[in-house]
Amino acid sequence: TGTQSGAVPAAASAVQPAAVSKDVTILFGSQTGNSENLAKQLARKLEDQQYQVTLSSMRDFKPNNLKKVQNLLIIVSTHGEGEPPDNAMSFYEFLHSKRAPKLDGVNYAVLSLGDTSYEFFCQTGKDFDKRLEELGAVRLCPRVDCDLDFDEPAAKWMGDVIAKLNEKVNAAQAAPSVEVGSSGGAAAEPQVEYSRTNPFMAEVIENINLNGRGSDLETRHLVLSLEGSNLQYEPGDCVGIFPENDPELVDTLIQKLNWNPEELVTVNKEGEQRPVREALLRNFELTILSRKMLEQAAAFTTDERLQRLLAKENSAELREYTKGRDVIDLVTDFGPWNVSPQDFVPLLRKMPARLYSIASSCKANPDEVTLVIRAVRYESHGRLRKGVCSTYVAERLEPGDKVPIYVHHNPNFKLPADSGAPIIMVGPGTGVAPFRSFIEEREELGITGKSWLFYGDRRFRTDFLYQTDWQRWLNNGVLERMDVAFSRDSDQKVYVQNRMMERSRDLFEWLEQGAYFYVCGDKQHMAKDVEETLLTIIEKEGGMDQEKAKAYLDEMKKANRYQRDVY
Ligand code: 2AM
Repeated sequence: TGTQSGAVPAAASAVQPAAVSKDVTILFGSQTGNSENLAKQLARKLEDQQYQVTLSSMRDFKPNNLKKVQNLLIIVSTHGEGEPPDNAMSFYEFLHSKRAPKLDGVNYAVLSLGDTSYEFFCQTGKDFDKRLEELGAVRLCPRVDCDLDFDEPAAKWMGDVIAKLNEKVNAAQAAPSVEVGSSGGAAAEPQVEYSRTNPFMAEVIENINLNGRGSDLETRHLVLSLEGSNLQYEPGDCVGIFPENDPELVDTLIQKLNWNPEELVTVNKEGEQRPVREALLRNFELTILSRKMLEQAAAFTTDERLQRLLAKENSAELREYTKGRDVIDLVTDFGPWNVSPQDFVPLLRKMPARLYSIASSCKANPDEVTLVIRAVRYESHGRLRKGVCSTYVAERLEPGDKVPIYVHHNPNFKLPADSGAPIIMVGPGTGVAPFRSFIEEREELGITGKSWLFYGDRRFRTDFLYQTDWQRWLNNGVLERMDVAFSRDSDQKVYVQNRMMERSRDLFEWLEQGAYFYVCGDKQHMAKDVEETLLTIIEKEGGMDQEKAKAYLDEMKKANRYQRDVY
């Protein structure tokens, strides 16, 4: 660089004992990579302003080094019922334990990512924020809790943090200040970059049902064209799709509220306007309810039952009510309503994209991407409910149609850097998607390292996704082993973890040879059971007690040899 970074500024030679240094530590806790990507952005911005940045995942950060930190910036997401991401767990536990050091004199700030449709929204970020204050650290600026649509609030938080840091540094050094708030050099981009905030309109090449006749499942094999987008991806990455709501839901809502479907509403901060029917199809989410929405809605009806539901002492009932219900239920169950489209849409959350693990290799299919999407349909509160994106794809997306997408890079689910390392993959149902990408990539690159797939679904005859692909890869040696578990072909349920247990000796031997272990699919049940089984296998075959087995798995995590893509 052209600056004299590292040189002592002239004015600093005056005695300035309380000088705030320009050393900043950024720690991220990330499951799908959003926090990590933001942390990297922040690091770049700070480095542009001559800060010395230490950027690390919470897992890789040595807790002892906390004592040396002066400026601590935390970006962390929350999952499920308020849980920290996998790679934040150990640091989270350390900081909340008695071993955590006093942090007097440390400046900090927390950015938390989450999803407002969950009860424990951004809980991990809230916990860190509270705990750091308890330990004596000083908050640089207020914590920001982001919903799925995090780009804007995150950028604002970063700007605030950097401004505050600059203030502190400049107050401590009587030196001329470093330029603040320049918009980062704003070099002209050579070409359009497609992203979540600027999605690419991808053409549908293929959309077929992978399940056979008579199956109670519908799983779509969706191939999209990336031609002209310049988008690239690696095995383990995902694609975000912006879906459209079910027109039936939208029309019901419009009818119940007595609106003219053509009436214009504002759909974004830029003030863009659209007919309300179109806006409800594409811009807003209709399938979730939150306390905030109900509170805002209460202004548009005289229904006292809604007021009562919102009373503090009825919060358990409110939680129960919002579970599994949607905006249609709200307008049906309460009323009468007196609200214009323009007043109503601010209640609604902006339609978020849905992420799907990629099931193809970019190297083997340049300009194409394949996704595996299972249609979600179930009965709840007396009505058939449909997964917004999965049934949009299953029922309304045809070859030739275009759909807004972006590529989401997931640094936490990647093939080993050492291509010769053995891999074990556990992916029942649509969880098999990234492993099809892994194997297709290895075939393309001519890698025949040891690979082992555990796969399962309901029935062999109708639900064996990509059976002929796996057969071919077993034959040509790109896939070395495959064990399958079809859960509904016999009286007794058989799951992937039962197959793992049956092969426990070999599986442990692979681990001892340095195998990477991957799990993709259902988080709540499957991934938990698979982890338990893995621990049992390590205990049994390694002759270890529970504690040793857990330490063995922790070592694997540290070495990135245990990776999960679970949801
Ligand atoms: P089931 O629906 O018959 O119970 C993909 O969804 C496959 O994962 C199905 O065969 C499903 O079986 C199975 N599955 C359900 N719960 C599971 C669990 N806890 N562990 C592993 N597999 C599970």
